[in-house]
Amino acid sequence: MKYGYFDDKAREYVITTPRTPLPWINYLGCENFFTLLSSTGGGYSFYRDARLRRLTRYRYNNCPLDQEGFRIYIKDGDIVWNPGWQPVQTELDRYSCRHGLGYTVIEGERGGITARQEFMVPRGDNCLLIRFTVSNGGDATRSFKVFPYLEFCLWDAMDDSSNFQRNYSTGEVEVTASAIYHKTEYRERRDHYAVFWSNRPADGFDTSREAFIGAYNSPAHPKAVFGDGCTGSVAHGWQPVAAQQFDLELQPGESCSILFGLGYIENPEEEKWEAPGIVNKVRAETLMARYADDDAFDSAMSALRAYWEELLSGYQVSSESAPLDRMVNIWNQYQCMVTFNMSRSASYFESGIGRGMGFRDSCQDLMGFVHIIPARARERILDIAATQFPDGSAYHQYQPLTKKGNADIGSGFNDDPLWLIAAADAYLRETGDWSILDEIVPFDNDPSLAQSLLEHLRRSFNYTRTHLGPHGLPLIGRADWNDCLNLNCFSAHSGESFQVSGPSEGPVAESVFIAGMFVKYGRSWADICRHAGLEQEAEDADKAIAAMETTVLDAGWDGAWFRRAYDAFGQVIGGKECEEGRIFLEPQGMCVMAGIGKESGQAAQSLASVQEHLDTKYGIVLLQPAYTRYHLELGEISSYPPGYKENAGIFCHINPWIVCAEAELGHGDRAFEVYRKTAPAFIEDISEIHRTEPYVYSQMIAGKDAVSFGEAKNSWLTGTAAWSFLGVSQAILGVKPTLDGLQIDPCIPASVSGFTLSRRYRGARYEITVENPDGVQHGVKEMLVDGCPLAGNVIPVRDAGSTVQVRVIMG
Ligand code: BGC
Repeated sequence: MKYGYFDDKAREYVITTPRTPLPWINYLGCENFFTLLSSTGGGYSFYRDARLRRLTRYRYNNCPLDQEGFRIYIKDGDIVWNPGWQPVQTELDRYSCRHGLGYTVIEGERGGITARQEFMVPRGDNCLLIRFTVSNGGDATRSFKVFPYLEFCLWDAMDDSSNFQRNYSTGEVEVTASAIYHKTEYRERRDHYAVFWSNRPADGFDTSREAFIGAYNSPAHPKAVFGDGCTGSVAHGWQPVAAQQFDLELQPGESCSILFGLGYIENPEEEKWEAPGIVNKVRAETLMARYADDDAFDSAMSALRAYWEELLSGYQVSSESAPLDRMVNIWNQYQCMVTFNMSRSASYFESGIGRGMGFRDSCQDLMGFVHIIPARARERILDIAATQFPDGSAYHQYQPLTKKGNADIGSGFNDDPLWLIAAADAYLRETGDWSILDEIVPFDNDPSLAQSLLEHLRRSFNYTRTHLGPHGLPLIGRADWNDCLNLNCFSAHSGESFQVSGPSEGPVAESVFIAGMFVKYGRSWADICRHAGLEQEAEDADKAIAAMETTVLDAGWDGAWFRRAYDAFGQVIGGKECEEGRIFLEPQGMCVMAGIGKESGQAAQSLASVQEHLDTKYGIVLLQPAYTRYHLELGEISSYPPGYKENAGIFCHINPWIVCAEAELGHGDRAFEVYRKTAPAFIEDISEIHRTEPYVYSQMIAGKDAVSFGEAKNSWLTGTAAWSFLGVSQAILGVKPTLDGLQIDPCIPASVSGFTLSRRYRGARYEITVENPDGVQHGVKEMLVDGCPLAGNVIPVRDAGSTVQVRVIMG
């Protein structure tokens, strides 16, 4: 069952009922100001940091769902309705929500009145704009009232939802004819305030929630709207809100629009005040003046569309499959941008107060984003590297506002260092910008410890190399990629964090997964050394990698698949002797991607075992059999009921590793089969089972052991976005940036006769046609570049600005 449809031409997903299984959201903003917006107008805004600079309030896990947002109430006689249906839920004659790239349009119609809300965050400014257009489609004059409403957050979202003894007394606002200024804490240490404005004077306002909503009412039944209108309240303490009232009259066929905005303004210390106690509004007025009319809104919208058009043009495919094209050309790349911006901080599943930017998460996110805006990926790599410790290990997370490592969670996640090599390697392959390796970057955010980025990568490699356990495999530390495999934790008390309890290190517990990573990204490190003229160091790395490969094929091989780990007692995890957790997915993906056992057959055997033991109709589960009881020595993984999350859920992030691994072995049919099982546009028809947005990936789909098999959770902020894009763009469609140029190496279903693709790469444009006359899955028989045959399949780097015609004949 579907709840809408893809409009590919407009690059929108159009939701046709407000009753989606869960709120289906969009992200507005791609620089510093962000808004999460649901299909009914729910959501919130923040400036840069969802925890520390939250502009509007949102109550997670609320009942009913999704109450807070950017609401407009229309009062037509006795009937009150919202164009987005929520929160009053008056039935509409027509409803639609168009989620587009950086904007959303919600439209509702009732009793001949059509109301449209166009939401966007314009480029270059810190504000949300909402154009509200209302039309009278009937044949009589209509008079009605319109009330926009939102609730402010007192900035620090954590404090806002917990420190009530203080914050019930701190709220402050100022009001002018068309604007409401939220200035809580501005009197003391804050240099910023928020402003909600309209581009015409309001007929009324309220800034106290109690006055507008009523102490015992909900946003579904605001006292002022259902009663006599706004009261002109000025909030002192309690809950400051922004509500306005407009009394409108429309002739038959007439329309009118009001432009609303929510802005974030910073003032330098010496310019904070206009008069004692009165905020300096100059910057706010300048911002409001910039968006004063429809023309300004339209041109900001055109600029946003042009921006996205340009960004997405870096990789565009035209194939025989519409869902494939819409994933690759639009939604997967869009999600990559969002995960790059947000890491795991703010979604409808991530509260924005928990996790900041993840070290490993951000490294992986940028691998799917680097082709979109390489310069931002460069900046991010340097930020991430600055949170590395001098010994090569790393803070696991950092706060985006301060860019400082997060001491609460600390370090000890032993896969983190290698992800930095993966990220830097992706950047170098995309850009050829070797100057990044010379950048001087602090360790532990301490400038006195700064060294070149090359030195950071060296220490990443050496950290893994020098932290090996009894079998010669890398020590796992607190956990590796699988945050829930906490082999040194031994937590027996409820309420303890699996992530930070227990020792961060143990001398015994080892990870086969990190070993696979060491081989894969160690090779990247060796290649970087070679290109940087460090031949001796490259050879040295090669030796360590070869030794690790041997170790994996020995201590890491179980007979038919790769083992997962050794626990703190030296017992195998993910091996045939295990009653539960006999086979895990991660090491199969990572070790085969690394090419381990490719020649000797273990790689193919490992993937056959995945298909036999872990595959389901909705995707590949993380392990089997699921853990049915809590294992002290394994930690969080066994805390989940069978089939959920890391305990045998379909963890979408690792499915594309299998796509890449299958492609590594030339299995085009299987690579595509794995790809399509979790790709949202391919499973749009089962939206009632899948439940999350059909245009983006979710972190997890309940596995076959779960009652709700097939139900997804944690949409949007997941490494699945980046890895799925790598899987489809590089492994399947086969366009791979290398250190020396663009390699074309498709691995596709035998039934596909070909496709065309346009790729921007290092400033040049490659127009690529792939033909598959013999119906093969893999292999390039012939390649013509600008009409001339090319030896091999790597096109040497071309001049920026040039267009290169590439014809690839598979066979
Ligand atoms: C985390 C990742 C982790 C994954 C698997 C995600 O929620 O953000 O860092 O690799 O779970 O545990």
